[in-house]
Amino acid sequence: MAESVHSMNNTAQKLAGKVAIITGGASGIGEEAARLFANHGARMVVIADIQDHLGHQVAASIGSHRCTYVRCDVTEEEQVKSLVDSTVNAYGQLDVLFSNAGIISPSNQKLLDLDFPQFDRLFAVNTRGMAACVKHAARAMVERRVRGSIVCTASVAASHGCMQYTDYVMSKHAVKGLVRAASMQLGAHSIRVNCVSPSGLATPLTRAAHPTMEIEELQKMYAQSCRLKGVFLTAKHVADAVLFLASGDSEFVTGLDLVVDGSFEL
Ligand SMILES: NC(=O)c1ccc[n+]([C@@H]2O[C@H](COP(=O)([O-])OP(=O)(O)OC[C@H]3O[C@@H](n4cnc5c(N)ncnc54)[C@H](O)[C@@H]3O)[C@@H](O)[C@H]2O)c1
Repeated sequence: MAESVHSMNNTAQKLAGKVAIITGGASGIGEEAARLFANHGARMVVIADIQDHLGHQVAASIGSHRCTYVRCDVTEEEQVKSLVDSTVNAYGQLDVLFSNAGIISPSNQKLLDLDFPQFDRLFAVNTRGMAACVKHAARAMVERRVRGSIVCTASVAASHGCMQYTDYVMSKHAVKGLVRAASMQLGAHSIRVNCVSPSGLATPLTRAAHPTMEIEELQKMYAQSCRLKGVFLTAKHVADAVLFLASGDSEFVTGLDLVVDGSFEL
């Protein structure tokens, strides 16, 4: 009996032995994914973020044998390269990249009031930073002939317009373009590239954008745009979709934008 429970647990270990990097892993969706990856047997989950205190806390709560924190600002290509190099040097290879770090601008960035310094900062993180992470992770996978999986966080904003957050909408459309191009170019190396596109959910990012709203209010507001009723989107729902794309469960899936949006409509 004990043996069958043990083997059931092994079957559920969808990332057994894998080495993964999660950018933006100190908080929100990335944190949830870090916990899920570790629960699914990942040999090492490297959280890469700029929130050092939180990042160390999350890694410690998962356990230093399974998770570690590395400071990496994804807007700095050298830091991204060094994150990938140090991961490969320490753990032998890189199997999974969850490129998830993202921001929204402090102002609401309606077109007529676009603030270009904010726009540039957002693109440096959401678009160029995403591309730098995919580039250096893919290089490491190609060099070591690893049949890796790369998952990016896009958004429903990658497929829909919006009455505000123009820069964010543009940056997430670009993420989808990155995934389409990268999945075609890396297919010959057996590397899969996909993205997840959540609709709105309560995380530190969206809470900061709506400082006067309680979590429940925020959830209700986002739920209005979903045809699926009776459930609020959580970071765990998104992390489950990421796990699917990161693991062998999606072995023949590449170039996909997996929407996790409860049938979103504006
Ligand atoms: N929350 C939502 O409603 C929602 C919906 C769709 C997509 N997304 C996307 O999900 C991703 C995760 O967001 P979240 O909601 O979990 O927010 P979050 O703020 O909780 O997490 C984002 C993380 O990215 C990190 N980060 C920001 N800039 C960085 C940089 N330059 N280098 C490294 N790390 C950096 C932050 O420190 C933070 O830990 C983002 O790409 C976001 O655009 C969020």
